[in-house]
Amino acid sequence: MKLIKTLLASTAALAFSTSAFATDLEVTHWWTSGGEAAAVAEFAKAFNEGGDKWVDGAIAGSGGVARPIIISRIIGGDPMGATQLNHGRQAEELVEAGLMLDLTDIAEKEGWKDVVNPVRLLNACTLDGKVYCVPVNIHSPQWIWLSHAAYEKAGVPVPANWSEYVASAPKLREAGVVPLAMGQQSWQTQLAFDTLLVAVGGTELFTNILSNKDAAAAGSAEATKVFDAFATARELAQGANVQDWNQATNMVITGKAGGQIMGDWAQGEFQVANQVAGKDYTCLPGLGVNDIIATGGDAFYFPKTDDPEITAAQKRMASSMIRKDVQVAFNLKKGSLPIRGDVDLSAANDCMKKGLKILAAGNVLPDGVNVLSADTAGQIQDLMSEFFNNTNITVADAQSRYVDIIKNAD
Ligand code: GAL
Repeated sequence: MKLIKTLLASTAALAFSTSAFATDLEVTHWWTSGGEAAAVAEFAKAFNEGGDKWVDGAIAGSGGVARPIIISRIIGGDPMGATQLNHGRQAEELVEAGLMLDLTDIAEKEGWKDVVNPVRLLNACTLDGKVYCVPVNIHSPQWIWLSHAAYEKAGVPVPANWSEYVASAPKLREAGVVPLAMGQQSWQTQLAFDTLLVAVGGTELFTNILSNKDAAAAGSAEATKVFDAFATARELAQGANVQDWNQATNMVITGKAGGQIMGDWAQGEFQVANQVAGKDYTCLPGLGVNDIIATGGDAFYFPKTDDPEITAAQKRMASSMIRKDVQVAFNLKKGSLPIRGDVDLSAANDCMKKGLKILAAGNVLPDGVNVLSADTAGQIQDLMSEFFNNTNITVADAQSRYVDIIKNAD
């Protein structure tokens, strides 16, 4: 009997292994922080389940470093099997050049149009009616993360909004705490500026400048208020000598800094450090001023090859990433929201719940944001980082340069 059982078990194992897949795909991404690595492991696990192999091609140093490497490899004829990019315009030229795999057949078969919420995330993957990427999460940059330990040290209550936060800064300094943790990479300063733009300036100003490329709005008195707030942030960040965003998050986790303006991916770091939202840290979407978030995020693209086996594996990977269980497992670790509304998120923490509530209320930045070309986006990043790192640049100088960039933006 025992022998029969063993035989049956090994026959089943054999049947499984012959039907299983066995394609290696190299996957590039810039998810190298603790929280990001934990999240990406969920994707690898799901892909490997069927016998394929996720060959991890993590590129350290954030999107600013990884993106040009990824793009030049694809253009230069050394494509990976799959790659992370932000959905939006980053892959536009690659798709137009016919270098990316068309996923329309699986998107239709699996009804992506009906499950992706908001559907604009799928639209951002679509060109001329064809789907070229799989959106995997909703990330919003417009948050501040506050350290309870730091506020306890300073003896002041955890602030509820940007102005309370600014008012609390002198007490933090007295207690030897840096008010604002800020990494030196230019995308981080630009993220802080854009967050202030929507929080202090409001949604209309944000869309007028970034979507409508309205130079008059960029030069307006309302925009000056945003630059003033950015100058305040510059002061508050004095002494925060870190480079990477997750090092800045670590200052908040360890109580060395009062807060950090950063996207909701920061949650992944708090989770890895076993910190609890609402107990060890507080998150304020829209800096507690304007409860609104943008629905950007990440998507995976699959460079086209002539090898049908690779193409099939690429499609299997795309399918696994959008699967309900994988969406939940990945996003809980990543700190992002899932791109499908039909999943069970009872395990979401306080901060994710805030994000979900805002999303359900439709308080999202309207269509048309994140539409700057890579060139325009780069110019703005350079300006913001220069301003932030050089206190000799005045608000007036920076704003007039901003107006020029928006005037010529595409
Ligand atoms: C963003 C990406 C996020 C996050 C962040 C920092 O571009 O969308 O997923 O990882 O970079 O690495």
